[in-house]
Amino acid sequence: MYFDNAATSFPKPDCVYDAVDVWMRGGAASAGRGTHRGAEAAGRMIDECRRQLATLLGVPTPSQIVFTLNCTDSLNTVLQGFLRPGDAVLATALDHNSVLRPLEALRQRSGINVKLIPFDPVTGLIDVQRFAEVLSEKKVRLVVLNHASNVTGRVQSVAELTRVAHAHGACVLLDAAQTAGHWPLNMMELDVDFLAAAGHKGLLGPLGTGILCIRRGLETQLQPLRFGGTGTSSESLLQPDDMPARFESGNLNLPGIAGLHAAAAWILDQTMPKLQSQIHAMTARMLEEMKCIGGVNVFRPCLESDNCGIVSFNIRSMDCREVAMILDQSFDIQARAGLHCAPLLHETLDTTSSHGTIRLSPGVFTTDDEIGHVVRAVREIAACA
Ligand SMILES: Cc1ncc(COP(=O)(O)O)c(C=O)c1O
Repeated sequence: MYFDNAATSFPKPDCVYDAVDVWMRGGAASAGRGTHRGAEAAGRMIDECRRQLATLLGVPTPSQIVFTLNCTDSLNTVLQGFLRPGDAVLATALDHNSVLRPLEALRQRSGINVKLIPFDPVTGLIDVQRFAEVLSEKKVRLVVLNHASNVTGRVQSVAELTRVAHAHGACVLLDAAQTAGHWPLNMMELDVDFLAAAGHKGLLGPLGTGILCIRRGLETQLQPLRFGGTGTSSESLLQPDDMPARFESGNLNLPGIAGLHAAAAWILDQTMPKLQSQIHAMTARMLEEMKCIGGVNVFRPCLESDNCGIVSFNIRSMDCREVAMILDQSFDIQARAGLHCAPLLHETLDTTSSHGTIRLSPGVFTTDDEIGHVVRAVREIAACA
């Protein structure tokens, strides 16, 4: 039983496997290169995928969506491409290492001034007051916001934080790794400048897919990390400025995008609110039942309604890695244990000494029986601990 959908979703809808197979066998042609039918069909499929993703994520212009390798790649594209030596950037203790590590590298290499602010362990939220104070103390060029924590599942009030950031002249990069696909997310309504997401988590595409959505006009302030063939303006030695070619050098992951295309169509057909309510119901049940188990400490700094589908917990003083091993070997449950690449968050939750938390993340194909099984397993382990 797979309870690690926050890392990557599994299983995928059948149409995703079929699409990858069809495009691999039917000729995964080099999109945008050449005029033969295969290349044109591939180009059309990719364009359609961009349009579907634009609909799902509220991106006004599909060509402002860039295909990347994963969410880490999308985040790096903005952090390394936007920040200049001497710039200040504001991030938070909720952030994943895919934000914290590039920032630390930029701090060491380019003298980027990195300011990290804490969150409230009770609510799981960034304190808007503190956020505004930091922004008024120093000119900040970029704010990185974590849409939902990959440890607590807590969804932030992004629209409010973005308003404050913009009022202080900062651009906003939203890390939507844990929300895109099964949590309503509209780039235009949230008014964020850059939106980074994985294609392989809630968007249900294959591993090796990610997306970066860039507010129209801001692409010129973003230096590409990679330069190379785009199939366009080939006579020039300069990287084209037009979107999305500016950030898509080299052949794209066509089988991966074909799978993502099928997944996006499936999500549009199911509807995002339906998937959200399915995941919400399972998460609420786990939180409700697990909080009543003696010796189980569930980290739930939020109402169930503010949780994107993640339950983190510890059992008494047990090492979380041991609990995950028992869940796997004795109960056939695949759960993730550890710091979940979010080391600063564990300092705030005081979970560093237990080596982090055990994380259960159901997916759109998780069943009620599986939820019942996992709760019983946790009860049994806690009873013996
Ligand atoms: C909040 C957050 N940001 C970024 C990432 C990185 O995603 P990817 O594995 O697609 O690079 C993750 C992965 O779990 C995450 O949870």
